[in-house]
Amino acid sequence: MNGYLNESNFTMVEEGFTPRDLLENLLVGPCPSSEQQAFFVADLGDIVRKHLRFLKALPRVKPYFPVKCNSSGGVLRLLAELGAGFACANKTEIAAVQSIGVPADKIFYSSPCKQIAHIKYAASRGVRLMAFDNEVELGKVARSHPQARMLLGIAADSSPSAHPSMMFGATLKSCRRLLEAAKEQAVEVVGISFHLGSCSLEPQGFAQAVAEAQLAFDMGAELGYRMHLLDIGGGFPGTEDARAQFEEIAAVINSALDTYFPEGCGVEIIARPGRYYVTSAFTLAASITAKEEIPMEQPGSDGEESGSKKSLVYHLSDGIYGAFSCVLFDSPCPKPLLHKKPCPDHLLCSSLRGPPGLPEDRIADGVELPELQDGDWLIFQDMGAYSIAVPSLLGGCPQPQVTYAMSRLAWEAVQLCQGKPLPAEDDHESACTPLSCGWEMVESLCVPPVFAPAGII
Ligand SMILES: Cc1ncc(COP(=O)(O)O)c(C=O)c1O
Repeated sequence: MNGYLNESNFTMVEEGFTPRDLLENLLVGPCPSSEQQAFFVADLGDIVRKHLRFLKALPRVKPYFPVKCNSSGGVLRLLAELGAGFACANKTEIAAVQSIGVPADKIFYSSPCKQIAHIKYAASRGVRLMAFDNEVELGKVARSHPQARMLLGIAADSSPSAHPSMMFGATLKSCRRLLEAAKEQAVEVVGISFHLGSCSLEPQGFAQAVAEAQLAFDMGAELGYRMHLLDIGGGFPGTEDARAQFEEIAAVINSALDTYFPEGCGVEIIARPGRYYVTSAFTLAASITAKEEIPMEQPGSDGEESGSKKSLVYHLSDGIYGAFSCVLFDSPCPKPLLHKKPCPDHLLCSSLRGPPGLPEDRIADGVELPELQDGDWLIFQDMGAYSIAVPSLLGGCPQPQVTYAMSRLAWEAVQLCQGKPLPAEDDHESACTPLSCGWEMVESLCVPPVFAPAGII
């Protein structure tokens, strides 16, 4: 084992036990539900399964997990154990992954906009792989981190669905000028990077972006660069209801790589899958802490009748500055499930808000729910992405506690991933709690481990 994760970091559960089962157990127990604080249950086995699926579908691509997507200790430790690298957006995220022992050569300081103090911090911690997409950022790195190895970010996201906030990257037109400027400042450019955005990805966007990246590689070669790294970004779906399935996207990527960066061409490929890895692994429980009734206007009805129609606003124990920050990242809040048996025939139009006092803390509107009371719990599945940030970025707000679970089979798969022998059959009986994670990975387990322990730069 690499030593990032051990059996004390999670609860070992039986096959067939779901995170929902574990969560229900916690809700009847004394902790952490007693104080009505929101809390997560995380199925680490789900992340293992995603990792094996990634290796199988994209055998040439090494994942670098974007820490901003989920910086919880269990996730970082598991992904480090599986051999993934990490894409960090700032000093705090670099510190978080280095604090669990991740070596500098597995860290990509991927944000194209960096504070000088953070660049210097990366330099002092040995982190060399970075990204840039304009001359100002290039100049900052040239002055503050002469050892940096840079990826030039290109704006490959030309699809109409591209979110404006994701429009980073230099145009192909400005690539030559930027590569020349890097040459003049003696900055080493080792490759090209792109990120297509995360919403409604069209698989064909990857084919176009890989083709454009190859043009940028050619420009680099003309200027004497020996570039050897291509970063294809993130944006892969985290749930099965996405417009394009992960395997469909992967097939387009593999075909584009075969065309533009065929095996043996000397270019390593990395990606930054965030939501893909963690969305479905996390389930959140949040309690109702306050409730407001809002009478609904009934056009054409008299006063007496209009009083009988109402909508409800529920304030939850967490909001968009905490566990529901996914709402700020273009991920609508999943439809809540009820902890208690619902009364299905009387549903009311309801809104979910964060703790009282912040009117902008709107989690969801137009949710059909039976009438609920203070203290009732709502359960939100698929909550692993953009719901847990490195603490200091949230100004020190208390974060929901996470209970991690993993089945023994998934734990064995983690060890298999590293080429370790499995324990003998007799050793399998265990003190598992009676829970399970719905594990079906026989096929996935056939994937040979692809990670060399060394980093890529
Ligand atoms: C630059 C960049 N790379 C990678 C990611 C990861 O995206 P996703 O979680 O959709 O895979 C993001 C997400 O915002 C991003 O902004």
